[in-house]
Amino acid sequence: MAAAIRLAAYTSLASIPSSSSSIFINFRSISHLGISISANPLLFCSRRGKRMAHAVAKATLGLTHPGQIDHPKISFAAKETDLVEWKGDILAVGVTEKDMAKDENSKFQNSILKKLDSQLHGLLSEVSTEEDFTGKDGQSTVIRIAGLGSKRVNLIGIGKVPTGSSTFAYRGLGESVASAAKASQANNVAIALASSEGLTPEMKLAIASAIAKGALLGTYEDNRFKSESKKAALKSVDLFGLGAGPELEKKLKYTEYVCAGIFLGKELVNAPANVLTPGVLAEEAEKIASTYSDVLTATILDTEQCKELKMGSYLGVAAASTNPPKFIHLCYKPPNGSIKTKLAIVGKGLTFDSGGYNIKTGPGCLIEMMKVDMGGSAAVLGAAKALGEIKPAGVEVHFIVAACENMISGTGMRPGDILTASNGKTIEVNNTDAEGRLTLADALVYACNQGVDKIVDLATLTGACVVALGPSIAGIFTPSDELSKEVVAASEVAGEKLWRLPMEESYWESMKSGVADMVNTGGRQGGSITAALFLKQFVDEKVQWLHIDMAGPVWNDKKKAATGFAIPTLVEWVLSNSSP
Ligand code: BES
Ligand code: MN
Ligand code: ZN
Repeated sequence: MAAAIRLAAYTSLASIPSSSSSIFINFRSISHLGISISANPLLFCSRRGKRMAHAVAKATLGLTHPGQIDHPKISFAAKETDLVEWKGDILAVGVTEKDMAKDENSKFQNSILKKLDSQLHGLLSEVSTEEDFTGKDGQSTVIRIAGLGSKRVNLIGIGKVPTGSSTFAYRGLGESVASAAKASQANNVAIALASSEGLTPEMKLAIASAIAKGALLGTYEDNRFKSESKKAALKSVDLFGLGAGPELEKKLKYTEYVCAGIFLGKELVNAPANVLTPGVLAEEAEKIASTYSDVLTATILDTEQCKELKMGSYLGVAAASTNPPKFIHLCYKPPNGSIKTKLAIVGKGLTFDSGGYNIKTGPGCLIEMMKVDMGGSAAVLGAAKALGEIKPAGVEVHFIVAACENMISGTGMRPGDILTASNGKTIEVNNTDAEGRLTLADALVYACNQGVDKIVDLATLTGACVVALGPSIAGIFTPSDELSKEVVAASEVAGEKLWRLPMEESYWESMKSGVADMVNTGGRQGGSITAALFLKQFVDEKVQWLHIDMAGPVWNDKKKAATGFAIPTLVEWVLSNSSP
């Protein structure tokens, strides 16, 4: 209760006035999955309440209640004044290796660095030499100083001069600034590039957006399950030399919405399976729909309704669990105007994957990580949230998740069982651990029945894809060169890495069954490809379809946290299909 009051107070404080010379992005502090279920009396009355009470009991297994979360609330302002005049906590300068070039007297040639250095009586060039700061990507050096308006100067390496429209380095710059701010509890920072001359206005927009994204994501911390946590200090970022005006303002607003979607996605994946059950995931989806009720509607199907739709493949996976499955369908329709394109985004939503009777055992099986197995659905809901804010025109979007758990019990499917999917195809389950594709089968049939033109599905589908592409690149599979181009282009703008892998039809041989239409797993070889070929069995040939295997990028092992992967790409993809 106290947390709810604190949140309300915080929200009402979130309206900083905006002036004509600056841009303010105000983050409303939203609590996602700070699920106040037990504090909500509504959930305990009425017939519906009874059903919810069951979900509540499951959601609080182990007496774990997630705490509230304060999302970063940073105001970004475009500044065109003299950098050395700036007053505040940290003045950060992004430098390329080329910017660090020094003349024969060991002095900088770059004009901004030269100016700063002379203000600091040569300290900057001295320190950079001593610390061997060469501007390599990720390098960072902080100087605490007196005599300048800023308390600290922070040089941050962005590596080689970025080519083309790549913005990876700038997002890294924003993240570095956020961690420097964290380290010194800085409230306000200024960010400039040592060389920003010659950048086109479009490039400046993209860079400002990437820096803002990095600063927001770098400031963000998911501490809902920690009993103690520090509050983020960073409140304002002044951007130098990257332009100003309504276009930049709009771009930063858009970045804010995408980041809010990413935060939601991260929180869904970070939440453990005893908190995030299929029922709670469905409630989160309903919450998104009610927040953006002008453009989104929610339909949640229970076991009975899925049975009526003959979703035997999905229900086979759900059969062992005491937590009932929830089939989630959000529909986005633009506020006005006609619809030109209909899209579906389908996400794997296994809130836990034990493997089933083919239980995950042995070192490296990662059973303890299998709360991440709903990463595809987190991307779907994160994108839905962002698009609920952005409200693109001319496009209808269906967000679909067949959510359930893959558990073990007397009611569960056995290896060797034959399931019948909603398109009538039969599947011999030769491995209960290949469950994601079984849930996606019925979700894809359902998506096609919505009359969509294109489908993108996302799933933490195979360990094989992690072996092939490593932890930070997702595999994509599609029979359509056109859709491949579209989605890859979106990922490049979004700054995420995808790599197309082949749908080798001859490998279907290993998926043949003696008793059913197909088995659900081929051999170990080409495991991601046979998984994609399996999914293709459930997609209407008239519909363009692309599958993203994101088992690697869903999680950041170093940070021990979810990444929110694919959300920016999905938002870009939908926008690329919208009317201007
Ligand atoms: N959820 C897993 C895939 C996975 C692995 C996700 C690592 C995240 C990290 C999936 O359901 C699975 O178990 N796949 C099996 C398929 C096999 C039985 C054909 C795998 O990859 O081993
Ligand atoms: Mn599995
Ligand atoms: Zn799985």
